[in-house]
Amino acid sequence: MRDRFQRQINYLRISVTDRCNLRCVYCMPPEGVEVIPHHEILSIEEILAVVKAGVRVGIKKVRLTGGEPLVRRGILDLIAGLRDIPEIDDIAVTTNGILLREMATDLKAAGVNRVNISLDTLKPDRFRRITRGGDLSRVWCGINAALETGMSPVKINTVAIRGFNDDELVDLARLTLDHPLHVRFIELMPVGASDAWAGGKFVATGEVRELLTRNLGNLVDEKKVPGNGPARYSRLPGANGTVGFISAVSNHFCAECNRLRLTSTGQLRPCLFNRRETDLKQALRSGAGPDELAQIFREAVMNKPDGHDLAAGWQRDDRVMSQIGG
Ligand code: GTP
Ligand code: 5AD
Ligand code: SF4
Ligand code: SF4
Repeated sequence: MRDRFQRQINYLRISVTDRCNLRCVYCMPPEGVEVIPHHEILSIEEILAVVKAGVRVGIKKVRLTGGEPLVRRGILDLIAGLRDIPEIDDIAVTTNGILLREMATDLKAAGVNRVNISLDTLKPDRFRRITRGGDLSRVWCGINAALETGMSPVKINTVAIRGFNDDELVDLARLTLDHPLHVRFIELMPVGASDAWAGGKFVATGEVRELLTRNLGNLVDEKKVPGNGPARYSRLPGANGTVGFISAVSNHFCAECNRLRLTSTGQLRPCLFNRRETDLKQALRSGAGPDELAQIFREAVMNKPDGHDLAAGWQRDDRVMSQIGG
Protein backbone atom coordinates (compact mmCIF):
# COMPACT_ATOMS: atom_id res chain seq x y z
CA MET A 1 0.00 0.00 0.00
CA ARG A 2 0.97 3.63 -0.32
CA ASP A 3 1.63 5.92 2.61
CA ARG A 4 0.60 9.56 3.03
CA PHE A 5 3.53 10.63 0.84
CA GLN A 6 2.62 8.25 -2.00
CA ARG A 7 5.49 5.89 -1.23
CA GLN A 8 4.85 2.23 -1.99
CA ILE A 9 5.55 0.19 1.16
CA ASN A 10 6.45 -3.42 0.29
CA TYR A 11 9.55 -4.25 2.37
CA LEU A 12 9.60 -5.48 5.97
CA ARG A 13 12.85 -5.63 7.95
CA ILE A 14 12.38 -8.20 10.69
CA SER A 15 14.67 -8.11 13.70
CA VAL A 16 14.54 -11.70 14.91
CA THR A 17 16.68 -11.13 18.00
CA ASP A 18 18.36 -8.26 19.81
CA ARG A 19 21.28 -10.52 20.72
CA CYS A 20 24.56 -10.54 18.90
CA ASN A 21 27.79 -12.53 19.05
CA LEU A 22 29.77 -9.31 18.46
CA ARG A 23 29.78 -5.92 20.20
CA CYS A 24 30.60 -3.35 17.55
CA VAL A 25 31.63 -0.07 19.12
CA TYR A 26 29.27 2.01 16.98
CA CYS A 27 26.31 -0.20 17.74
CA MET A 28 26.46 -1.26 21.38
CA PRO A 29 27.82 -0.09 24.70
CA PRO A 30 30.81 -2.16 25.97
CA GLU A 31 28.71 -4.11 28.45
CA GLY A 32 26.26 -5.09 25.71
CA VAL A 33 22.55 -4.42 26.03
CA GLU A 34 20.28 -5.78 28.67
CA VAL A 35 19.03 -9.23 27.75
CA ILE A 36 15.34 -9.19 26.94
CA PRO A 37 13.48 -12.07 28.62
CA HIS A 38 12.61 -14.88 26.23
CA HIS A 39 8.84 -14.45 26.51
CA GLU A 40 9.11 -10.81 25.44
CA ILE A 41 10.50 -11.87 22.06
CA LEU A 42 8.10 -12.89 19.30
CA SER A 43 8.04 -16.63 18.64
CA ILE A 44 8.68 -17.96 15.15
CA GLU A 45 4.94 -18.62 14.77
CA GLU A 46 4.13 -15.08 15.86
CA ILE A 47 6.58 -13.59 13.36
CA LEU A 48 4.97 -15.64 10.60
CA ALA A 49 1.52 -14.44 11.66
CA VAL A 50 2.77 -10.86 11.47
CA VAL A 51 4.22 -11.35 8.00
CA LYS A 52 0.98 -12.93 6.77
CA ALA A 53 -0.86 -9.84 7.98
CA GLY A 54 1.75 -7.63 6.30
CA VAL A 55 1.24 -9.43 3.03
CA ARG A 56 -2.38 -8.23 3.08
CA VAL A 57 -1.22 -4.63 2.92
CA GLY A 58 1.38 -5.29 0.24
CA ILE A 59 4.54 -6.62 1.93
CA LYS A 60 6.42 -8.71 -0.64
CA LYS A 61 10.03 -8.55 0.51
CA VAL A 62 11.49 -9.46 3.85
CA ARG A 63 14.93 -9.15 5.37
CA LEU A 64 15.94 -10.84 8.59
CA THR A 65 18.17 -8.71 10.78
CA GLY A 66 19.21 -8.67 14.42
CA GLY A 67 21.21 -8.22 16.54
CA GLU A 68 22.66 -11.16 14.71
CA PRO A 69 19.88 -13.15 13.04
CA LEU A 70 21.89 -16.36 12.80
CA VAL A 71 22.03 -16.75 16.61
CA ARG A 72 18.23 -16.92 16.75
CA ARG A 73 16.98 -20.41 17.52
CA GLY A 74 14.51 -21.58 14.89
CA ILE A 75 15.77 -19.23 12.19
CA LEU A 76 15.68 -21.99 9.55
CA ASP A 77 12.07 -22.83 10.44
CA LEU A 78 11.20 -19.16 10.13
CA ILE A 79 12.79 -18.97 6.68
CA ALA A 80 11.03 -22.12 5.53
CA GLY A 81 7.74 -20.67 6.79
CA LEU A 82 8.38 -17.42 4.91
CA ARG A 83 9.15 -19.35 1.75
CA ASP A 84 5.73 -20.96 1.99
CA ILE A 85 3.97 -17.59 1.83
CA PRO A 86 3.38 -17.23 -1.90
CA GLU A 87 3.28 -13.42 -1.97
CA ILE A 88 6.80 -13.14 -0.50
CA ASP A 89 9.21 -13.02 -3.42
CA ASP A 90 12.48 -12.05 -1.70
CA ILE A 91 13.96 -13.44 1.53
CA ALA A 92 17.28 -11.90 2.49
CA VAL A 93 19.47 -11.86 5.61
CA THR A 94 21.80 -9.20 7.04
CA THR A 95 24.51 -10.90 9.10
CA ASN A 96 27.91 -10.28 10.62
CA GLY A 97 29.08 -13.49 8.94
CA ILE A 98 30.51 -15.17 12.05
CA LEU A 99 28.18 -18.20 11.76
CA LEU A 100 27.79 -18.14 8.01
CA ARG A 101 30.29 -20.82 7.12
CA GLU A 102 28.35 -23.35 9.20
CA MET A 103 24.93 -22.15 8.09
CA ALA A 104 25.14 -20.98 4.46
CA THR A 105 24.05 -24.26 2.89
CA ASP A 106 21.09 -24.67 5.25
CA LEU A 107 20.05 -21.05 4.79
CA LYS A 108 20.05 -21.44 1.02
CA ALA A 109 18.14 -24.72 1.24
CA ALA A 110 15.54 -23.16 3.57
CA GLY A 111 14.87 -20.34 1.10
CA VAL A 112 17.31 -17.46 1.54
CA ASN A 113 18.07 -15.82 -1.81
CA ARG A 114 20.84 -13.57 -0.65
CA VAL A 115 22.87 -12.24 2.25
CA ASN A 116 24.44 -8.91 3.18
CA ILE A 117 27.54 -9.28 5.36
CA SER A 118 29.12 -6.60 7.55
CA LEU A 119 32.86 -6.05 7.11
CA ASP A 120 34.50 -2.81 8.17
CA THR A 121 38.16 -3.78 7.87
CA LEU A 122 40.51 -6.30 6.25
CA LYS A 123 42.91 -6.29 9.21
CA PRO A 124 42.37 -8.92 11.92
CA ASP A 125 43.55 -6.69 14.78
CA ARG A 126 41.30 -3.83 13.73
CA PHE A 127 38.40 -6.22 13.32
CA ARG A 128 38.97 -7.47 16.84
CA ARG A 129 38.98 -3.87 18.08
CA ILE A 130 35.87 -2.58 16.29
CA THR A 131 33.81 -5.70 17.12
CA ARG A 132 35.30 -6.04 20.63
CA GLY A 133 36.74 -9.51 20.11
CA GLY A 134 35.55 -10.85 16.74
CA ASP A 135 37.59 -13.22 14.56
CA LEU A 136 37.94 -11.87 11.01
CA SER A 137 38.90 -15.23 9.52
CA ARG A 138 35.45 -16.58 10.35
CA VAL A 139 33.83 -13.77 8.38
CA TRP A 140 36.04 -14.48 5.38
CA CYS A 141 35.05 -18.13 5.50
CA GLY A 142 31.42 -17.02 5.74
CA ILE A 143 31.70 -14.74 2.70
CA ASN A 144 33.27 -17.57 0.69
CA ALA A 145 30.60 -19.98 1.85
CA ALA A 146 27.87 -17.58 0.70
CA LEU A 147 29.50 -17.30 -2.73
CA GLU A 148 29.96 -21.07 -2.95
CA THR A 149 26.30 -21.81 -2.25
CA GLY A 150 25.38 -19.60 -5.20
CA MET A 151 23.54 -16.97 -3.18
CA SER A 152 23.47 -13.83 -5.28
CA PRO A 153 24.10 -11.00 -5.02
CA VAL A 154 26.45 -11.19 -2.01
CA LYS A 155 26.81 -7.71 -0.57
CA ILE A 156 29.31 -6.37 1.93
CA ASN A 157 28.38 -3.56 4.35
CA THR A 158 31.27 -1.31 5.29
CA VAL A 159 30.68 1.60 7.62
CA ALA A 160 33.21 4.31 6.69
CA ILE A 161 34.89 5.59 9.86
CA ARG A 162 37.50 8.32 9.88
CA GLY A 163 40.65 7.36 11.72
CA PHE A 164 39.63 3.71 11.73
CA ASN A 165 39.23 2.38 8.19
CA ASP A 166 39.53 5.41 5.91
CA ASP A 167 42.97 4.14 4.88
CA GLU A 168 41.41 0.81 3.80
CA LEU A 169 38.42 1.93 1.77
CA VAL A 170 40.35 1.63 -1.49
CA ASP A 171 41.43 -1.93 -0.61
CA LEU A 172 37.88 -2.85 0.34
CA ALA A 173 36.66 -1.51 -3.03
CA ARG A 174 39.39 -3.54 -4.75
CA LEU A 175 37.63 -6.71 -3.56
CA THR A 176 35.07 -6.03 -6.30
CA LEU A 177 37.68 -6.24 -9.05
CA ASP A 178 38.10 -10.02 -8.89
CA HIS A 179 35.10 -11.19 -6.90
CA PRO A 180 31.36 -10.95 -7.63
CA LEU A 181 30.92 -8.91 -4.46
CA HIS A 182 29.02 -5.67 -3.97
CA VAL A 183 30.87 -3.58 -1.41
CA ARG A 184 28.65 -0.85 0.03
CA PHE A 185 30.09 2.09 1.93
CA ILE A 186 27.70 3.28 4.62
CA GLU A 187 27.76 6.69 6.22
CA LEU A 188 28.14 6.40 9.98
CA MET A 189 24.75 7.20 11.46
CA PRO A 190 24.43 9.09 14.73
CA VAL A 191 22.24 6.55 16.47
CA GLY A 192 22.44 4.10 19.33
CA ALA A 193 25.78 3.71 21.04
CA SER A 194 27.66 5.67 18.43
CA ASP A 195 26.84 9.17 19.57
CA ALA A 196 29.55 9.53 22.19
CA TRP A 197 31.99 7.67 20.00
CA ALA A 198 31.26 8.96 16.52
CA GLY A 199 32.20 12.63 16.85
CA GLY A 200 34.53 13.59 13.99
CA LYS A 201 34.50 10.08 12.50
CA PHE A 202 31.86 10.69 9.83
CA VAL A 203 32.97 10.29 6.21
CA ALA A 204 30.51 11.49 3.55
CA THR A 205 29.77 9.43 0.44
CA GLY A 206 31.14 12.18 -1.80
CA GLU A 207 34.53 11.84 -0.14
CA VAL A 208 34.58 8.06 -0.55
CA ARG A 209 33.63 8.33 -4.23
CA GLU A 210 36.38 10.82 -4.81
CA LEU A 211 38.92 8.63 -3.02
CA LEU A 212 37.97 5.59 -5.12
CA THR A 213 38.01 7.53 -8.38
CA ARG A 214 41.43 8.97 -7.62
CA ASN A 215 42.93 5.58 -6.82
CA LEU A 216 41.02 3.11 -8.96
CA GLY A 217 39.52 5.00 -11.91
CA ASN A 218 36.15 6.36 -12.97
CA LEU A 219 33.00 4.97 -11.42
CA VAL A 220 30.24 4.10 -13.84
CA ASP A 221 26.61 4.02 -12.59
CA GLU A 222 25.21 0.52 -12.30
CA LYS A 223 21.48 0.03 -12.10
CA LYS A 224 21.17 -3.72 -12.11
CA VAL A 225 22.15 -4.89 -8.63
CA PRO A 226 19.04 -6.57 -7.17
CA GLY A 227 17.94 -5.15 -3.84
CA ASN A 228 15.29 -3.20 -1.99
CA GLY A 229 17.44 -0.79 -0.02
CA PRO A 230 18.72 2.74 -0.50
CA ALA A 231 22.18 1.90 -1.90
CA ARG A 232 23.37 3.46 -5.18
CA TYR A 233 25.81 1.33 -7.16
CA SER A 234 28.74 1.99 -9.47
CA ARG A 235 31.30 -0.19 -11.17
CA LEU A 236 35.06 0.25 -11.21
CA PRO A 237 36.79 -0.22 -14.55
CA GLY A 238 36.87 -3.93 -15.42
CA ALA A 239 35.38 -4.99 -12.09
CA ASN A 240 33.49 -8.20 -11.52
CA GLY A 241 31.33 -6.79 -8.69
CA THR A 242 30.25 -3.27 -7.83
CA VAL A 243 30.74 -0.64 -5.17
CA GLY A 244 27.67 0.85 -3.52
CA PHE A 245 26.96 3.89 -1.39
CA ILE A 246 24.44 4.24 1.40
CA SER A 247 24.29 7.95 2.10
CA ALA A 248 22.08 7.78 5.15
CA VAL A 249 23.09 11.20 6.40
CA SER A 250 24.20 13.32 3.45
CA ASN A 251 21.46 12.35 1.03
CA HIS A 252 17.87 12.01 2.11
CA PHE A 253 16.70 8.87 0.37
CA CYS A 254 13.58 9.01 2.50
CA ALA A 255 11.48 10.13 -0.49
CA GLU A 256 11.89 6.61 -1.88
CA CYS A 257 11.47 4.81 1.43
CA ASN A 258 9.63 1.52 0.97
CA ARG A 259 9.89 -0.16 4.38
CA LEU A 260 8.66 -0.87 7.86
CA ARG A 261 10.58 -2.52 10.68
CA LEU A 262 9.46 -5.19 13.09
CA THR A 263 11.44 -5.25 16.33
CA SER A 264 12.20 -8.54 18.07
CA THR A 265 9.70 -7.60 20.78
CA GLY A 266 6.91 -7.21 18.27
CA GLN A 267 6.74 -3.46 17.72
CA LEU A 268 6.10 -2.16 14.26
CA ARG A 269 8.38 0.78 13.68
CA PRO A 270 7.53 3.08 10.78
CA CYS A 271 10.97 4.70 10.55
CA LEU A 272 14.49 3.83 11.65
CA PHE A 273 14.91 7.27 13.18
CA ASN A 274 11.57 7.70 14.81
CA ARG A 275 10.68 6.38 18.23
CA ARG A 276 7.05 6.00 17.41
CA GLU A 277 6.08 2.31 17.34
CA THR A 278 2.88 0.27 17.23
CA ASP A 279 2.48 -2.76 19.45
CA LEU A 280 1.72 -5.89 17.46
CA LYS A 281 2.71 -8.33 20.19
CA GLN A 282 0.02 -7.26 22.57
CA ALA A 283 -2.56 -7.54 19.82
CA LEU A 284 -1.26 -10.97 18.83
CA ARG A 285 -1.28 -12.24 22.38
CA SER A 286 -4.73 -10.97 23.12
CA GLY A 287 -6.10 -12.95 20.22
CA ALA A 288 -6.13 -10.48 17.31
CA GLY A 289 -6.84 -12.17 14.00
CA PRO A 290 -5.37 -11.43 10.58
CA ASP A 291 -7.81 -8.58 9.91
CA GLU A 292 -6.92 -6.72 13.09
CA LEU A 293 -3.20 -7.27 12.54
CA ALA A 294 -3.49 -6.00 8.98
CA GLN A 295 -5.26 -2.92 10.35
CA ILE A 296 -2.29 -2.26 12.66
CA PHE A 297 0.00 -2.49 9.64
CA ARG A 298 -2.14 0.06 7.83
CA GLU A 299 -1.86 2.43 10.78
CA ALA A 300 1.92 2.00 10.88
CA VAL A 301 2.15 2.77 7.17
CA MET A 302 0.03 5.88 7.69
CA ASN A 303 2.26 6.88 10.59
CA LYS A 304 5.42 6.89 8.49
CA PRO A 305 7.11 10.28 8.71
CA ASP A 306 8.31 11.82 5.45
CA GLY A 307 11.93 11.49 6.55
CA HIS A 308 14.55 12.12 9.16
CA ASP A 309 16.56 15.13 10.15
CA LEU A 310 19.82 13.42 10.94
CA ALA A 311 21.96 16.23 9.62
CA ALA A 312 20.51 18.41 12.36
CA GLY A 313 22.16 16.39 15.10
CA TRP A 314 22.39 13.23 17.15
CA GLN A 315 19.25 11.27 17.65
CA ARG A 316 18.26 10.12 21.12
CA ASP A 317 16.54 6.77 21.28
CA ASP A 318 15.76 4.17 23.91
CA ARG A 319 16.90 1.47 21.54
CA VAL A 320 20.40 0.93 20.18
CA MET A 321 20.96 -0.17 16.60
CA SER A 322 21.10 -3.88 17.41
CA GLN A 323 17.63 -3.61 18.91
CA ILE A 324 16.13 -1.91 15.88
CA GLY A 325 17.89 -4.05 13.33
CA GLY A 326 19.73 -1.41 11.32
P1 GTP B 1 19.15 -4.59 -0.05
O1 GTP B 1 19.28 -3.29 -0.79
O2 GTP B 1 17.81 -5.21 -0.26
O3 GTP B 1 20.24 -5.56 -0.34
O4 GTP B 1 19.24 -4.33 1.52
P2 GTP B 1 19.51 -3.09 2.49
O5 GTP B 1 20.66 -2.30 1.99
O6 GTP B 1 18.19 -2.43 2.68
O7 GTP B 1 19.86 -3.86 3.83
P3 GTP B 1 21.04 -3.88 4.89
O8 GTP B 1 20.45 -4.54 6.09
O9 GTP B 1 22.24 -4.51 4.32
O10 GTP B 1 21.30 -2.38 5.23
C1 GTP B 1 22.50 -1.72 4.93
C2 GTP B 1 22.58 -0.39 5.63
O11 GTP B 1 21.56 0.48 5.19
C3 GTP B 1 22.43 -0.50 7.14
O12 GTP B 1 23.42 0.29 7.75
C4 GTP B 1 21.10 0.06 7.40
O13 GTP B 1 21.01 0.63 8.67
C5 GTP B 1 20.96 1.08 6.30
N1 GTP B 1 19.56 1.23 6.05
C6 GTP B 1 18.71 0.24 5.67
N2 GTP B 1 17.47 0.72 5.61
C7 GTP B 1 17.54 2.02 5.98
C8 GTP B 1 16.57 3.04 6.15
O14 GTP B 1 15.40 2.84 5.99
N3 GTP B 1 16.99 4.25 6.53
C9 GTP B 1 18.28 4.51 6.74
N4 GTP B 1 18.62 5.72 7.11
N5 GTP B 1 19.23 3.57 6.63
C10 GTP B 1 18.86 2.34 6.25
N1 5AD C 1 25.83 3.76 11.36
C1 5AD C 1 25.88 3.12 10.17
N2 5AD C 1 25.73 1.80 10.02
C2 5AD C 1 25.51 1.08 11.13
N3 5AD C 1 25.32 -0.24 11.30
C3 5AD C 1 25.11 -0.48 12.62
N4 5AD C 1 25.19 0.67 13.32
C4 5AD C 1 25.44 1.66 12.41
C5 5AD C 1 25.62 3.07 12.50
N5 5AD C 1 25.57 3.71 13.66
C6 5AD C 1 25.37 -1.19 10.18
C7 5AD C 1 26.18 -2.42 10.44
C8 5AD C 1 25.56 -3.41 9.48
C9 5AD C 1 24.24 -2.82 9.10
C10 5AD C 1 23.08 -3.72 9.26
O1 5AD C 1 24.08 -1.68 9.92
O2 5AD C 1 27.52 -2.26 10.14
O3 5AD C 1 26.33 -3.58 8.32
FE1 SF4 D 1 26.18 -7.07 16.18
FE2 SF4 D 1 25.71 -5.87 13.84
FE3 SF4 D 1 25.61 -4.47 16.12
FE4 SF4 D 1 27.93 -5.35 15.23
S1 SF4 D 1 26.60 -3.84 14.19
S2 SF4 D 1 27.20 -5.47 17.36
S3 SF4 D 1 27.42 -7.27 14.30
S4 SF4 D 1 24.24 -6.13 15.56
FE1 SF4 E 1 12.67 5.54 5.58
FE2 SF4 E 1 12.98 6.65 7.97
FE3 SF4 E 1 15.04 5.42 6.72
FE4 SF4 E 1 14.09 7.75 5.81
S1 SF4 E 1 15.11 7.39 7.78
S2 SF4 E 1 14.64 5.98 4.57
S3 SF4 E 1 11.90 7.54 6.22
S4 SF4 E 1 13.15 4.48 7.48
